[in-house]
Parts: sequence; C-alpha cells; structure tokens
Amino acid sequence: MSPPPSTSFFSVTIVLLGMMLPQSKAQLNTTFYANTCPNVSSIVSNVVQQAFQSDSRIGASLIRLHFHDCFVNGCDASILLDNSSSILSEKFAAPNVNSTRGFGVVDNIKTAVENSCPGVVSCADILALAAESSVSQSGGPSWSVLLGRRDSLTANQAGANTSIPSPFEGLNNITAKFSAVGLNTNDLVALSGAHTFGRAQCRTFSNRLYNFSNTGNPDSTLNTTYLTTLQQICPQNGSGTALANLDPTTSDAFDNNYFTNLQNNQGLLQSDQELFSTSGSATITLVNNFSSNQTAFFQSFVQSMINMGNISPLTGSSGEIRSDCKKVNGS
Ligand code: HEM
Ligand SMILES: *[C@@H]1O[C@H](CO)[C@@H](O)[C@H](O)[C@H]1NC(C)=O
Ligand SMILES: *[C@@H]1O[C@H](CO)[C@@H](O)[C@H](O)[C@H]1NC(C)=O
Ligand SMILES: *[C@@H]1O[C@H](CO)[C@@H](O)[C@H](O)[C@H]1NC(C)=O
Ligand SMILES: *[C@@H]1O[C@H](CO)[C@@H](O)[C@H](O)[C@H]1NC(C)=O
Ligand SMILES: *[C@@H]1O[C@H](CO)[C@@H](O)[C@H](O)[C@H]1NC(C)=O
Ligand SMILES: *[C@@H]1O[C@H](CO)[C@@H](O)[C@H](O)[C@H]1NC(C)=O
Ligand SMILES: *[C@@H]1O[C@H](CO)[C@@H](O)[C@H](O)[C@H]1NC(C)=O
Ligand SMILES: *[C@@H]1O[C@H](CO)[C@@H](O)[C@H](O)[C@H]1NC(C)=O
Ligand SMILES: *[C@@H]1O[C@H](CO)[C@@H](O)[C@H](O)[C@H]1NC(C)=O
Ligand SMILES: *[C@@H]1O[C@H](CO)[C@@H](O)[C@H](O)[C@H]1NC(C)=O
Ligand SMILES: *[C@@H]1O[C@H](CO)[C@@H](O)[C@H](O)[C@H]1NC(C)=O
Repeated sequence: MSPPPSTSFFSVTIVLLGMMLPQSKAQLNTTFYANTCPNVSSIVSNVVQQAFQSDSRIGASLIRLHFHDCFVNGCDASILLDNSSSILSEKFAAPNVNSTRGFGVVDNIKTAVENSCPGVVSCADILALAAESSVSQSGGPSWSVLLGRRDSLTANQAGANTSIPSPFEGLNNITAKFSAVGLNTNDLVALSGAHTFGRAQCRTFSNRLYNFSNTGNPDSTLNTTYLTTLQQICPQNGSGTALANLDPTTSDAFDNNYFTNLQNNQGLLQSDQELFSTSGSATITLVNNFSSNQTAFFQSFVQSMINMGNISPLTGSSGEIRSDCKKVNGS
C-alpha cells in the first residue's frame, strides 16, 4: 500500500523548504569576518586613505561603484568583472562607460586584504567597506558595515543600462528605479546626498545650460549666477568630458551642503534639482530637513546605505569569493 499522493507531495515540499530556508534566510551582519579577517575594516580604510593622498576625488568614485553594483543584480561585485569570453562587462554599460572610476584602488584593497586573509573576503564586501571609509574620511558619518556578501559568477550589462537612474530622467522614473530595488523616497533623498562630493562631466548636465527641452533657454530652475559659472566650465560645443564639482560650495567634503544647494537652485544635475523643484513632491520636505539638520541627514544616510547594501546579496554558498575582483575564479 502506497501512501496517498497528497502525503508524499507534502513530505517532498517540507523537505525542499527545509533545504532552502537556511540559504534564503542568511542575513548580513557586522561580525561576519570577526574570526577569519578581524582587521578587514582597517586594512580597507588604510588603502583608501593612501588613495586620497593622490586623488581627492577617489572617495566619491568608490561609493558610486557600490551604488552601481547594488542596483544591478544586487550587491555582488558584478560591476567589477572585466569582459571575457562569457562576460559582457558592466563597465561598458551606458551609465558606467567613461564614467565609473576607482577600479585600480579596489584592486589595491583586494591585494592588501588577500595578504592578510587569503580567500576569505568578498569583493562585494570590499565595495561596501570602501564606501563607508570614503564617507567617514571625508567628514561624513561612520558606521558598522554589514558583511557576508559573496561575489557573482556573472555580469548583467543590459541590467546596468536599464536599472541605474539617469540624470535626464524625471523624478517619477527615478523613484520607480529605487522602488524596484526596495528603496523608498527617504532613501532616494538621503542617498542623493552623496552628491555632496565628487565630479560630473559636462555631458551629464549641459542640456540644462543653453537650450533646455527645446525651450531655447536654460533650465529655469538653475540659479543664474551658478548658470554663468557652469557655462564657463561647459562652453557650447565644448568637450563633454570637462568636469564640474557636484557640490560647488564644499567640493570634497561630505556634509549637508548638497541640500542647501538645492534650496539655492544650485543642483548640478537635473535629477538633483528636481528633488526640490518638483512642486508638491514629498522630497521637498526631506531636502529642507536635511539642509537644516546635518545630524538628521547623517542618520538617514547611514540607514539608507545599509538598506542599499542589503539589496539581494549572495550569501551562504551562493556565488564565490573571487580571488581577483576582475575575474570569475578559474576563468
Ligand atoms: C538618484 C539618482 C542618481 C543619478 C541620476 C545619479 C547620476 C550621476 C551622474 C550623472 C554622475 C556624474 C557621472 C559622470 O559625469 O561621469 C554622478 C556622480 C556621482 N554619483 Fe550619482 N546619481 C544618482 C544617485 C547616486 C547615489 C545613490 C550615490 C551614492 C550613494 C551617488 C554617488 C555619486 C558620486 C559620489 C558621484 C561622483 C563620482 C566621481 O566623482 O567619480 N549617486 N551621479
Ligand atoms: C553572521 O552571519 C554568519 C553567516 O550567516 C553566521 O555564521 C554568524 O553566526 C553571524 N554572526 C552573528 C553574530 O549573528
Ligand atoms: C590588526 O591591525 C593592527 C594594527 O592596525 C595590528 O597591530 C594587528 O596585529 C593586526 N591584527 C591582525 C590579526 O592582523
Ligand atoms: C568590452 O566589451 C565592450 C562591449 O560591451 C566593448 O565596447 C569594449 O571595447 C570591450 N573592452 C575591452 C577592454 O575588451
Ligand atoms: C569613451 O572614451 C573614449 C576615449 O576618450 C572614446 O574613444 C569613446 O568613444 C568613449 N566611449 C563612449 C561610449 O562615450
Ligand atoms: C548597453 O548600452 C550600451 C550603450 O548605449 C550599448 O552599446 C550596449 O549594447 C548595451 N548593452 C546591452 C547588453 O544592452
Ligand atoms: C520614464 O519611464 C517611461 C516608462 O518606462 C519611459 O517610457 C520614459 O522614456 C522614461 N523617461 C525618461 C526621461 O527616461
Ligand atoms: C533649441 O533646440 C530646438 C530643437 O533642437 C531648435 O529647434 C531650436 O532652434 C533651439 N533653440 C535655440 C535658441 O537654439
Ligand atoms: C556650435 O556648433 C554649431 C554647429 O557646428 C554652430 O552653428 C554654432 O555656432 C556653435 N556655437 C558656438 C557657441 O560655438
Ligand atoms: C543663487 O545662489 C546664491 C548663492 O550662491 C544664493 O544666495 C541665491 O539666493 C540663489 N538664488 C536663487 C534664486 O536661488
Ligand atoms: C536633528 O535631527 C536629529 C536626528 O533626527 C534630531 O534628534 C534632532 O532633534 C534634530 N534637531 C533639530 C533642531 O530639529
Ligand atoms: C527630520 O528627519 C529626522 C530623521 O529622519 C526626523 O527624526 C525628524 O523628525 C525630521 N524633522 C522634521 C522637521 O521633519
């Protein structure tokens, strides 16, 4: 006599659930490397500190790598993989090509970490730790980084083309892209505050300077004094690769001036200024709050960095610990 089919169906289901739960439940935590690489935070932070000595922009570039990693297939270091026979690198996706930088410093961090703790620390966690070091060494908040991510075996160039927000998109589209990875309006406004440091190329905002949306005039939300400065940096028919500071007031410091700039109509990217200039938007209240209260900004920023760092990590035995951040092991 065989048991009724329903019984075996449920037994199989229960066994399958039992096998799947431990992996799907694995959470990142701050002590993941406590036994296997106790000094990993200071190793990362020392290399970042060295990099700052020859490149005041490097912190901005490093946190942006973590952002562009997390928005594509989760925080899995997919952005670090180079082209190969089986990899179409995300480095050549539209938001990244001729724009993302800092890959050499990530390699230097990986080398230093491998020297102390070979084969243990993922490249995805290195990006998260480097982002925190970059912020804290620029005058921003420090926090305990959640760890335990593993590295992907694949890249997703098409995903990078479509999931990373563009500066030319409206606030609704950008909000939708944040929502697609589980981030809300608070996260959008707080994380946009990362544009308190770093640079942007003229090609990412020059559409605002001369003939905005075919109006024949500059973007009316641009402060006229600031407009004149930007027109000097980005002349008509000039190089689209010239650089402007994202924060014209304190260009390399991590502070809340980004939000004060928005109130003064000095947001560099269209997507920045829309947080404040879109009438009726819930983002305006948050901009005003963060502009008047740096403590509130820092507190929200840390929470939102943790939220972003939690986007679909690979954990348990998924993925791998790459030995070279640029390549899948054994390839
Ligand atoms: C909200 C949507 C966002 C858009 C549309 C956007 C767009 C951009 C663009 C166009 C640039 C200039 C790139 C270039 O000219 O090469 C840039 C730079 C930068 N972004 Fe964003 N970004 C957004 C959100 C974020 C977030 C969430 C972070 C980090 C938490 C971030 C951090 C940075 C930093 C630090 C830079 C300067 C990088 C450097 O100097 O190398 N951005 N962003
Ligand atoms: C951190 O996460 C790892 C992997 O999930 C686990 O083995 C470890 O016990 C966790 N540590 C704490 C303190 O929860
Ligand atoms: C951790 O770093 C400190 C100095 O930063 C050093 O004294 C200590 O030996 C290191 N510990 C390990 C386990 O590498
Ligand atoms: C990598 O692939 C891209 C296409 O996605 C191509 O444009 C680029 O030249 C390749 N780069 C290298 C270094 O092979
Ligand atoms: C990237 O920059 C290189 C060198 O300036 C240029 O030849 C290439 O056309 C640029 N690629 C894109 C997609 O803008
Ligand atoms: C991503 O966008 C770039 C630039 O627009 C394009 O050359 C490339 O083919 C796109 N890649 C994929 C996989 O769609
Ligand atoms: C906003 O998203 C819609 C729907 O995906 C798309 O059709 C439109 O082109 C996007 N707008 C911009 C400016 O990218
Ligand atoms: C602005 O751009 C539109 C579309 O390209 C064009 O028809 C118009 O003449 C331009 N206006 C000025 C003042 O350049
Ligand atoms: C930019 O280039 C266009 C076409 O080549 C030309 O008509 C225009 O006068 C130039 N504008 C300036 C400010 O040089
Ligand atoms: C333009 O920016 C200056 C600061 O550079 C500020 O004092 C002024 O109020 C701003 N104007 C507008 C209309 O926002
Ligand atoms: C600033 O924000 C902090 C953190 O949210 C809050 O505790 C404090 O009361 C705020 N200060 C003012 C003056 O509103
Ligand atoms: C500003 O934001 C902080 C942190 O999110 C919050 O505690 C505070 O209530 C907000 N203040 C105002 C005036 O909205």
